[in-house]
Amino acid sequence: MKILMVCLGNICRSPLAHGVFTNLVEKEGLDWTIDSAGTGDWHVGEQPDRRSVAIAKKHGIDITAQKAQLFQTSFFDDYDRIFVMDENNYDDVIALARNDEDQEKVSKFLLEGDVPDPYFDASQFEAVYQMIENRCEELLRDLKSEN
Ligand code: 4NP
Repeated sequence: MKILMVCLGNICRSPLAHGVFTNLVEKEGLDWTIDSAGTGDWHVGEQPDRRSVAIAKKHGIDITAQKAQLFQTSFFDDYDRIFVMDENNYDDVIALARNDEDQEKVSKFLLEGDVPDPYFDASQFEAVYQMIENRCEELLRDLKSEN
């Protein structure tokens, strides 16, 4: 199973989802690949935002080895499922889909609503972390039961 988490910059939200989900699948001993990407290229090659690094570290997760990358059309071939953090990410990824099969791989990460972008509001990082952790646990249960 290959899973891609997507947000805008690939430095705040999707690196947290990438790190939290990786931690959960490793704890379960699953041989799944988890990665993340952004729909914008401003931060390509950078480590996650220091505020995401700090909040992850506070919860025992090290995301410092991650490097931001831009979402590529070829990722539709590389991943089984693509989870996007908000509606804009959804529209941007769907715009790159080549066919129905590509489109069907894309889902919103949350069952309802968006993961808010904390980039311009540092006070949001803890709430965003909690939202991502809760959904990752649920998502792992759902994906395991599908496979
Ligand atoms: P992310 O947050 O999409 O959660 O990584 C953002 C990071 C950077 C920017 C916007 C959102 N930016 O405009 O540079």
